[in-house]
Amino acid sequence: MIEVVALAKQFVAPQPRGLSFKQVPPRVVKAVRQVSFVAPDGHITGLLGPNGAGKTTTLRMLAALIAPDAGRMAVDGIDVASRPREALARMGMLSDARGLYPRLTARENIVYYGLLQGMDREAASARAETLARMLEMRPLLDRRTDGFSQGERMKTALARSLVHDPPNIVLDEPTNGLDVLATRALREALRFLRTPEGGGKCIVFSTHIMQEVQRLCDSVVVVSHGRSVASGTVDELLAQTAERDFEEAFVKLAFAEERAQGATS
Ligand SMILES: Nc1ncnc2c1ncn2[C@@H]1O[C@H](COP(=O)(O)OP(=O)(O)OP(=O)(O)O)[C@@H](O)[C@H]1O
Ligand SMILES: [Mg+2]
Repeated sequence: MIEVVALAKQFVAPQPRGLSFKQVPPRVVKAVRQVSFVAPDGHITGLLGPNGAGKTTTLRMLAALIAPDAGRMAVDGIDVASRPREALARMGMLSDARGLYPRLTARENIVYYGLLQGMDREAASARAETLARMLEMRPLLDRRTDGFSQGERMKTALARSLVHDPPNIVLDEPTNGLDVLATRALREALRFLRTPEGGGKCIVFSTHIMQEVQRLCDSVVVVSHGRSVASGTVDELLAQTAERDFEEAFVKLAFAEERAQGATS
């Protein structure tokens, strides 16, 4: 289970280099202002938000890649800020930059990550085989990842993030750049991982694609301008907004602020 409470993060752009007579005020980007959600086990939770909403920043904080300014996060009750290693051991993260080692084969990428997670080579190799079957990527295993297509890269990165069989899986825009078949294969894999036979995983993924959420998610967290502005099942969000079309519901929820401002100006 993943819990995120009142998370906040801002970035301050560095001062321009060189001598300047003018003092440039620091440019502050409030990437995440107030994001909270709970993602239970055996459940797929979607973070749905427009570009720049703060999804990637939230997930990077969850993976302890950057520190939040405020708020807290827990993975299976383990606080990410104070016990990052223990929290990360219980979490697999597919980041938006897939970041594979190009000179290693897919198998070597996966096994190497397993070794980093403290697995022995035999266990990591066996796990690479299992994952390759599940993700239908066996023919790729012994090719160097240099030159892999988007879908091939995604599968390798996903297998790598699952090598230590983590109970929690976090994916940033996993279907980005994937064709219909690869998207369907990924969807199938995630649905399986959610079931008791698949380990009843807690799965969190970010997207800006409505259909993805409707097809896959048990619940949705709508993120807009760095805030989690609504959450619930697709049906609950439809009821809450009195809409029949999920895209309309999403626009109402995500852009409520702009609409309110537009109405008063
Ligand atoms: N390292 C950084 N330095 C400065 N600004 C940043 C940094 N990382 C993110 N931001 C800014 O924070 C905001 C949120 O970015 P983030 O990547 O979290 O959005 P996102 O919801 O993942 O968007 P997308 O759907 O486009 O991936 C954006 O305005 C972005 O420009
Ligand atoms: Mg992003």
